[in-house]
Amino acid sequence: MQLSILAAATCVVQLANFASAEPTAKEVAANLELFWSYNRSDPVYPSPKISGLGDWEFAYLKAVEIVSQLTNEEKVNLTVGYSSELTGCSGMIQSIPDLGFDGMCLQDAGNGVRGTDMVSSYASGIHVGASWNKQLAYDRALYMGAEFRRKGANVILGPVVGPLGRVATSGRNWEGFSSDPYLTGSLAYETVVGLQKNVVACVKHYIGNEQETNRSPPGSYGGTSATKYNASVSANIDDKTMHEAYLWPFQDSVHAGAGSIMGSYNRVNNSYACQNSKALNGLLKTELGFQGFVVSDWGGQHTGIASANAGLDMAMPSSSYWESGHLVEAVNNGSVSQDRLDDMATRVIAAWYKYARLDDPGNGMPSNVLEAHDLVDARDPASKNTIFQGAVEGHVLVKNVDNALPLKKPKLISLYGYDGIATDTEIQGASSGFGGFGGDVAAISNGTLYTGGGSGSNTPSYIDAPFNAFSQKAWEDGSFLSWDFASAEPNVNAESDVCIVFINAYATEGSDRPNLADKYSDNLVESVADQCANTMVVIHNAGIRLVDNWIDHENITAVIMAHLPGQDAGRSLVEVMYGKQSPSGRLPYTVAKKESDYGTLLDPTTPEGNVDLYYSQSNFTEGVYIDYKAFIKSNITPRYEFGFGLTYTTFEYTDLDLQTASANQSYLPPDCTIAEGGPVSLWDVLATAKVTVTNTGEVAAAEVAQLYVGIPNGPPKVLRGYGKQTIQPGQSAEYVFDLTRRDLSTWDTVTQNWVLQAGSYPVYVGKSVLDIQIGGALTFTN
Ligand code: NOJ
Repeated sequence: MQLSILAAATCVVQLANFASAEPTAKEVAANLELFWSYNRSDPVYPSPKISGLGDWEFAYLKAVEIVSQLTNEEKVNLTVGYSSELTGCSGMIQSIPDLGFDGMCLQDAGNGVRGTDMVSSYASGIHVGASWNKQLAYDRALYMGAEFRRKGANVILGPVVGPLGRVATSGRNWEGFSSDPYLTGSLAYETVVGLQKNVVACVKHYIGNEQETNRSPPGSYGGTSATKYNASVSANIDDKTMHEAYLWPFQDSVHAGAGSIMGSYNRVNNSYACQNSKALNGLLKTELGFQGFVVSDWGGQHTGIASANAGLDMAMPSSSYWESGHLVEAVNNGSVSQDRLDDMATRVIAAWYKYARLDDPGNGMPSNVLEAHDLVDARDPASKNTIFQGAVEGHVLVKNVDNALPLKKPKLISLYGYDGIATDTEIQGASSGFGGFGGDVAAISNGTLYTGGGSGSNTPSYIDAPFNAFSQKAWEDGSFLSWDFASAEPNVNAESDVCIVFINAYATEGSDRPNLADKYSDNLVESVADQCANTMVVIHNAGIRLVDNWIDHENITAVIMAHLPGQDAGRSLVEVMYGKQSPSGRLPYTVAKKESDYGTLLDPTTPEGNVDLYYSQSNFTEGVYIDYKAFIKSNITPRYEFGFGLTYTTFEYTDLDLQTASANQSYLPPDCTIAEGGPVSLWDVLATAKVTVTNTGEVAAAEVAQLYVGIPNGPPKVLRGYGKQTIQPGQSAEYVFDLTRRDLSTWDTVTQNWVLQAGSYPVYVGKSVLDIQIGGALTFTN
C-alpha cells in the first residue's frame, strides 16, 4: 500500500515551467499517478485532529473543555443521530443538559426550511447561480439561516456544491449553483458566510455525487431497485480533476469557515465517500485544514471502524455501526483510537459552539424542536425584498425578437400552460417522481414549478403564480386576460396581442431526468405558436432545458428561462417582462442544440456487462472538461452558451487594464501556512484586471461582466472573475477582478500542489464565454 505524500507536500506553493516536448520523468510519474487514481483511493491515516486554526481557537478550546468531561458513551452520542417523533428535524443529536449542550437539530435544506410552516421559499441554487450576484447570495443566506435558527435548527443541510453539473440530466443539479466550479465556489463562499451568522452550514455532497442513478446500494437509503448491483456508483476522479473541478467549491466553502460537510452516498475511486480516508483525512482535513465535522448523508455510512478512522465524525440519521456500544467497544479494543473518538466529539461541539448555540443572545429560541405547525413565525419582514430580488435576478432572457419584451400594456393577453397557475394540491416540492403526463415527461403538471423535488425542496408562505401576477398587472393596466391552463392544444384567441406559454422542466432527488425537453410541453408551445404571431415562452426549469424543437418558430418572439424562483415566481416574472427591471440573469450552464451534444455527459453512468463488486464505474475521464469547457474543446456550438443572457439595453466594454503584482509580492516567499481552505498563499492576489462598462442604450440595467483566463496547458477559457453592477443609460462603471494564486494555478499531481506556471495567460472579458468584448494577456516569468 502506498501512503499519501499529501501531508508532507502540501505546504509548497511553487512557480514552475512545464513547457517541454518530451515527457519528463515527472510527467510519466504523473500519468502513473493518474492511472492509479482511477482504480483505488489512497489510504491516508491517521485522521487529522481539529487544531483550532484561525478563528476556531476559542470554540476549539471550549469544545476540548466540554469533551474532557464526557464519558465515551456520551461522546458517541454526539456522533450518532437518534430519531424522535417529537421533532420535525431531518436529524437529531442528543443533548447533554449538565454541560449546557442542548443537542442539535439538523434540517433540510439549502433553499429554505423544509416541511414546516411560517417559513419562506427562497429561490433555489440554480436560480442563485443564474443571478451571478454575490451580495444577493449572501443576503439570501443571512435571512434563510435566521429562519432555520428561529425554528430551532442548528445545522442547515446546505448549500449544495456537488453535484457540480457534470451530467446534464442529473436530478439534483438545480440544488447547486452552476456547472462551473469558480461560479459555484464564489456563491458557496457567500452562502456559507451568510448562513453561519445563525447556524452551522453543512456543505454537501462530498464528493463526486454527480448522479442519482445508483447513488446508493440497493435496499439502503436512496438505493435504487436495481437489486443485482451491490454497491453504489463509483465516481472515479483523478487527482488533478478532483482539485481543479470537484474539490474547488468545497475548498471555497472551507475557506469561508464551513462548520460541517456532508459525505455523499456514492463511492469515490471505489471507496465509499463516508469512509474514504483520502477524501476525508487527506483532502478535507489535511489539505484544506477543515475544522468542522463530517456527517454522513442519511444512511450513507457503510462501516463502523473504517468510517471512524477514515474521518467520518457523525452518522445520520442513526448508526447500527456506532450505537449500542459498538463504537465504545472499538475504542476499548483499540480498533479506533481514543484520540479519534475525542476528535469526533470535539469537532461536533466546536462547530455547534462557534455557530449555532441557540441560547445566544438575540435568538430567544431555547428549543431545538422543529415541529410542523410550530407557531414560531420564522420569517423576518425585512427579508421580503431579498426574496423578491433573488427571484427577479435568476430569470434569463434568451430570445427577444425586435424588442418584443418588455411588454407595453398589451390590451389582450392570452395565457397558456400547466405551469401558469398555483398548484391546488399538496406542496409541490415535497412530492417526488415525474408528475402528470405519464411516460417520459420531464415536466410536472400540477402548477408553477418554484422549487425542485426531494430533500432540497422548500416550503412557500404562498405561491405567487404567473396567473396571479398577470391578473394584478392587468388590473393596473386595464388589460384583458384570456386563459387556458388545462389544454394540451388550446384554442388561441385570435385577437391576442401576446400569448404567453408557461411550461416547466422538473427534477428531483432520487432519480435523474429522463430528458432535457419533453414532448408534451414542446407540443403545447408549438400549438400556441402556430396560432399566435406574438408567442412568448416561460420555462421554470430545474436544470438545462433544450428549446431547439421550436426556438426558430417565427411566431416565438421571446423566451425566458425562469428557473426556480421560489414563492415570488409570478411577480418577479412580471417585473422582468414589463421592464420594471431589465433582465439581469445569465445562464450558469450551457444549453445545447441537441441532447447528443453533451456526449457521454448527457446521462448518468449505468452498470454494464457482468455484475461484480466493482460495478457501476463512472470514470471522469473528461477531466475538467465539462459544460462549456467540453463544448469549446469539441468545437460544438451551443444554442445558448454559458454566461449568456439578454437585457433591454446595450453595453460597451473599454479600457481593459491588466496588472500583475510585483514579482516579490507574487512569488516570494510563498506563505505555506495552512489555514481553512489550504495554504494561505493560495489567496494572494497575483493580478488585477479592470474594465469599464458603459450603458449605451436607453434603460437602466445590470451587466454581468465575466472574466475568463486561458491557463497554460488547461482549457482555453476558464471563468475566473465576474461582477454585476446596475448602470444607468449613458453612465459607466468600473469592474475590478482580483486574480488569486489559485485562480491562475494548476494542480500538480507530482508535488501535490498548486503550481503557477511561467508563461502567457490570455484574459478575456465579456458578456458570456463566447461573447468576448475585450481581451489582453498576463505574463508570469520565472
Ligand atoms: C438525503 C439527501 O441526499 C441529503 O441532501 C439530505 O440532506 C438528507 N437526505 C436528509 O434529508
